[in-house]
Amino acid sequence: MRALCWFGKEDVRVETVPDPTILNPRDAIVKITTTAICGSDLHLYDGVIPTMEKGDILGHEFMGQIVEVGSDVKNLKTGDRVVVPFTIACGNCFFCRKGLWASCDNSNPNSWMLEKAYGYGGSALFGYSHMMGGYAGGQAEYARVPFADIGPIKVPDGLADEQVLFLSDIFPTGYQAAENAQIAQGDTVAIWGCGPVGQFAIQSAWMLGAGRVIAIDKVPERLELAATKGKAEIINSDMENVVEKLRSMTGGRGPDGCIDAVGLESTGHTPDALYDRVKMAMKLETDRPTALREVIQSCRKGGTVSIPGVYGGLLDKFPMGAAFGKGLTFKMGQTNMQNYLKPLLNRIVKGEIDPSFVITHRLGLEDAPAAYKTFRDKQDGCIKVVLKPQTATV
Ligand SMILES: NC(=O)c1ccc[n+]([C@@H]2O[C@H](COP(=O)([O-])OP(=O)(O)OC[C@H]3O[C@@H](n4cnc5c(N)ncnc54)[C@H](O)[C@@H]3O)[C@@H](O)[C@H]2O)c1
Ligand SMILES: [Zn+2]
Ligand SMILES: [Zn+2]
Repeated sequence: MRALCWFGKEDVRVETVPDPTILNPRDAIVKITTTAICGSDLHLYDGVIPTMEKGDILGHEFMGQIVEVGSDVKNLKTGDRVVVPFTIACGNCFFCRKGLWASCDNSNPNSWMLEKAYGYGGSALFGYSHMMGGYAGGQAEYARVPFADIGPIKVPDGLADEQVLFLSDIFPTGYQAAENAQIAQGDTVAIWGCGPVGQFAIQSAWMLGAGRVIAIDKVPERLELAATKGKAEIINSDMENVVEKLRSMTGGRGPDGCIDAVGLESTGHTPDALYDRVKMAMKLETDRPTALREVIQSCRKGGTVSIPGVYGGLLDKFPMGAAFGKGLTFKMGQTNMQNYLKPLLNRIVKGEIDPSFVITHRLGLEDAPAAYKTFRDKQDGCIKVVLKPQTATV
């Protein structure tokens, strides 16, 4: 089959690789009809996530048709149309039973790598390095889905792929981010990053009762989408001092909930952003937390900081004094996907939201290498790329 493989920093290629096969009775094989490139894939493309190996198949946002199931998968059959969540979870361990699917103790055969690097083990993800399990991803014609009796959700035929695909990651991720912001009715919620995750955090903040949503980015078309589709007030971080602007917009108090939908590759013009860029280039710092510092500085006393943006290591100049002094609550982490699949599918079925609004680029799998660059560099108005692996070009 054809698959998008990682070969190094800014080097991804579509290669012919062996078809996946059932290796375990709880596996299924999915013929992928639609897949997408995520902001998290850009961290791999930029070479900032360790334990990648040449030839690794990328992609963790995918859906398609079941073509084979293992003998222990009783809830799916050949021909079923499914969306596959990006976290792989067993469904039976201590953490899965608590709904902490992204902390599953059984899905990651390379958990020892995480333990060595971070001091704890963690669940596996599709197409996201060997320390995250080394599973092949879904920017491919087919994928093997482990624990297929727990992850994939069947989707109704009446809904197009593009309406349900983002149940695989960014819609639940934006929703969990809003939930983690502990929004009370009428709260003001500020969201850094108007990429796909930020856009779904905006939508979800309204669903959870926000009274005001303020979105921050510097990419004009992303701010525009936040304002039009997201009905958010917007701040262009290239034009304004974000912390001061938020203070003035909230009567000097700061937003009640602040969401960092940017993560470790944050950019900016402030002195601390320059400091991070230099230190990261010298490999003296693993992450650039520019947005996160602003989040902490901006959030009101007693407010909540929610962090869906991915962080990978040790952060410099983290304003812990301000966080402590203000009594902030922090909530963060990979999305516990399985908690959100059914409720969010129901919202789509009821017509409360059509997640396809973020899509700007529809391409074939062979176009993926160029699409990574376009998405990373925010060229051509790119906000979200979907790929159709069953057609050479679209
Ligand atoms: N927690 C999870 O399970 C999970 C799931 C999916 C994605 N993510 C992470 O969420 C983050 C966002 O994903 P995405 O797909 O939207 O990525 P993206 O790269 O498309 O969007 C990030 C946005 O942040 C903006 N930005 C950069 N620096 C900023 C700053 N200082 N202030 C405000 N905005 C700034 C960029 O211009 C960009 O629009 C990534 O870190 C991704 O890895 C986490
Ligand atoms: Zn993702
Ligand atoms: Zn588990």
